[in-house]
Amino acid sequence: MKILLTGASGLVGSAFAEAAKRRGHHLVGVVGQAAFTIPGLAEKRALDLTVTEGVTALALEVFPDAIVNCAAVAEPAACDADPARAQVLNVELPALLGKLAHHLSARLIHISTEQVFSGDRPPYAVGDEPRPVNLYGRQKLESERRVHEAAPDFAATVRAPLLTGNSLGGSRSLHERLLADWAAVRAPRLYRDEIRQPCTAGNLAEVLLELCERQDLRGIFHWAGAETLSRVDLARRIRAHFKLSPEQAPITEINRADDPAAARRPADLTLDLKPLAGVLKTPIETFDAQLDQLILPPPVRTWYFSL
Ligand SMILES: NC(=O)c1ccc[n+]([C@@H]2O[C@H](COP(=O)([O-])OP(=O)(O)OC[C@H]3O[C@@H](n4cnc5c(N)ncnc54)[C@H](OP(=O)(O)O)[C@@H]3O)[C@@H](O)[C@H]2O)c1
Repeated sequence: MKILLTGASGLVGSAFAEAAKRRGHHLVGVVGQAAFTIPGLAEKRALDLTVTEGVTALALEVFPDAIVNCAAVAEPAACDADPARAQVLNVELPALLGKLAHHLSARLIHISTEQVFSGDRPPYAVGDEPRPVNLYGRQKLESERRVHEAAPDFAATVRAPLLTGNSLGGSRSLHERLLADWAAVRAPRLYRDEIRQPCTAGNLAEVLLELCERQDLRGIFHWAGAETLSRVDLARRIRAHFKLSPEQAPITEINRADDPAAARRPADLTLDLKPLAGVLKTPIETFDAQLDQLILPPPVRTWYFSL
């Protein structure tokens, strides 16, 4: 299958490129600023995805069987910092890809987030009412609507959870950020009562790939890991996995009630994974299985081996 992949340099996109190559697909991957090599791509294209004409020209040139959209402003703080740019990448780009997918009769796989939910009434099923509490969640929710309006016969959207895994730059994912804090002698402030259900970017990539191949699955779906954990528990398990002591890897534990910023962070984003969990071959990962895949990121190796 010929696949046009946006966000090929990102946490999910790079994992998707590797997974798709293993299954023999031909991948044309779009990157923005990233200069590094991306294993798995047959072709790498540098393109500013905020420019409609460039995106349209590339899609018409490649004429893909599937478009997988992993490009985004993927963090709430980054959306707040530049809402206009985030609107283009998180809403207008998926809408455009929806129109192009419809025009090309191509499968479109889009990624949304569990942050479309408010977090006060878990677990969340696919049909539950979304009520985002931050701009990122509102933009991703709008992207879902626009994608499925434009390409109802071709699109599948996965609402993904907090992601673990190894990023190409070594600084994007959960354990990479924690280790960077500890290497800089910072104690990350983490909630005891904010609950997430992580999976690896690689596991999500397998799901996206199965969806490319399963044209019968259309609409919005949920995917996540097998366990729900607090932010504090996640950090403790990562700390233990890397055999770090609480002195080497300190955590400042906080409660949502004590932090005004918690109002714009959903409390508990436990997802109900039906119906996808019953119909895909991709296994749902335990957190131990996720930990086993984590490597020591290059930016913190000198610090780690000096301990
Ligand atoms: N990470 C998570 O925990 C998480 C959780 C739930 C859902 N998601 C969703 O999963 C998807 C992938 O997220 P991610 O974590 O993989 O994101 P990421 O690591 O931040 O990667 C974002 C990608 O978008 C590209 N990009 C951004 N602006 C661009 C532009 N103007 N032109 C071209 N490319 C541009 C980046 O390219 P360059 O770096 O080359 O510029 C990069 O490849 C997103 O839809 C996100 O909302 C992520």
